[in-house]
Amino acid sequence: MVQITIPSANITFDCDADDTVLRAGLRAGLGMPYECNVGSCGNCRFEVLEGEVVHERENPPGWNERDKQRNRYLGCQARPLGNCTIKVPLREDYKSHFLPARTTGKLLAIADITHDIREFRFALAKPNGFLPGQYGLIGVPGVEGARAYSMSNAGDGEHWDFQIRKVPNGAATGALFDKLQVGDVVTLDGPYGMAYLRENVARDVICLAGGSGLSPMVSISRAFAASPALAGRKLHFIYGGRTPRDICGETFLKALPGYGERIFYHSAISDLDHPDSARWDGKKGFAPDLAVEMFGESLPDYEIYFAGPPPMADAIMKMAIGHKVPAAQLHFDKFY
Ligand SMILES: Cc1cc2nc3c(=O)[nH]c(=O)nc-3n(C[C@H](O)[C@H](O)[C@H](O)COP(=O)(O)OP(=O)(O)OC[C@H]3O[C@@H](n4cnc5c(N)ncnc54)[C@H](O)[C@@H]3O)c2cc1C
Ligand code: FES
Repeated sequence: MVQITIPSANITFDCDADDTVLRAGLRAGLGMPYECNVGSCGNCRFEVLEGEVVHERENPPGWNERDKQRNRYLGCQARPLGNCTIKVPLREDYKSHFLPARTTGKLLAIADITHDIREFRFALAKPNGFLPGQYGLIGVPGVEGARAYSMSNAGDGEHWDFQIRKVPNGAATGALFDKLQVGDVVTLDGPYGMAYLRENVARDVICLAGGSGLSPMVSISRAFAASPALAGRKLHFIYGGRTPRDICGETFLKALPGYGERIFYHSAISDLDHPDSARWDGKKGFAPDLAVEMFGESLPDYEIYFAGPPPMADAIMKMAIGHKVPAAQLHFDKFY
């Protein structure tokens, strides 16, 4: 165990020798800024004033030459080699509602959702709650570095369910889909993430997702359906896929009370040249285009949640900002 001091806030917190500065800070209840937790976004940068740290992931994509020269590191990847003094901005809104903790998860069940998306259900050795839309870090046996995956259930804390898309030649998804068996154990760390359902905001909701972005939107929809605070509100779930076989999610929405009355599902496909797309008689285009077609000028009246690969998240951001949706009404995770 080592100690990390933030002189500007007059705070010192403990960090396990095998933990990272960001995760230990969040475990201690501090509001340290971050997003992806896997070294890609760069939002967790901090400066080392005294002491030494080493990155878990060699040359993480969110770290550049200028950072190196200025003694800046990525909090999610930086493991302290002894006591350290650091400079980092703290923000109230980054404080965790459920403090992230490390535990193990036993795989209870696997279910196919599409040809390349599966749901994995884990029982936690030490239960921990999470807010709908948050993610956990899964350490898959034999795979270097934990990966971030969003939970799809709505948080009893004993189980964490994940809806995961298999990535061609992906290390973690390859192992999860092809090697992991019911009864096997992984490491779990979390919850993390800021793109959680705001139950205190009295606005209708749009959930936008494509591909791997399904999971957190399902979690948010489930929590929305059960939330007394949002009982008078509507939710529109928009899912975009390349071809008809990619379209999914409606089954989960149909199971919710209020489906068809205040909870609605819409989908669209984007690869119109694909031979399978000829049999599709639903909407065509990308999920953000469908949102514009459906809601147009009224988009600023909605609280908008979205998740998916960076190009899709960037397209949704552009669409929302172009339609004057205030940034405070946009909640997203980019799946780096
Ligand atoms: C916040 C967040 C939530 C996500 N939620 C979901 C979800 O709900 N469902 C889903 O299907 N996908 C989700 N993803 C994507 C997921 O984390 C993986 O990127 C994806 O499954 C590919 O992993 P892979 O190992 O199979 O592929 P690979 O191509 O082997 O690995 C690529 C990913 O692993 C990261 N990586 C590579 N090496 C390391 C290392 N040493 N340490 C840490 N990271 C490393 C890369 O940055 C990249 O993100 C999420 C990503 C983020 C950031
Ligand atoms: S790089 Fe650390 S949170 Fe994204």
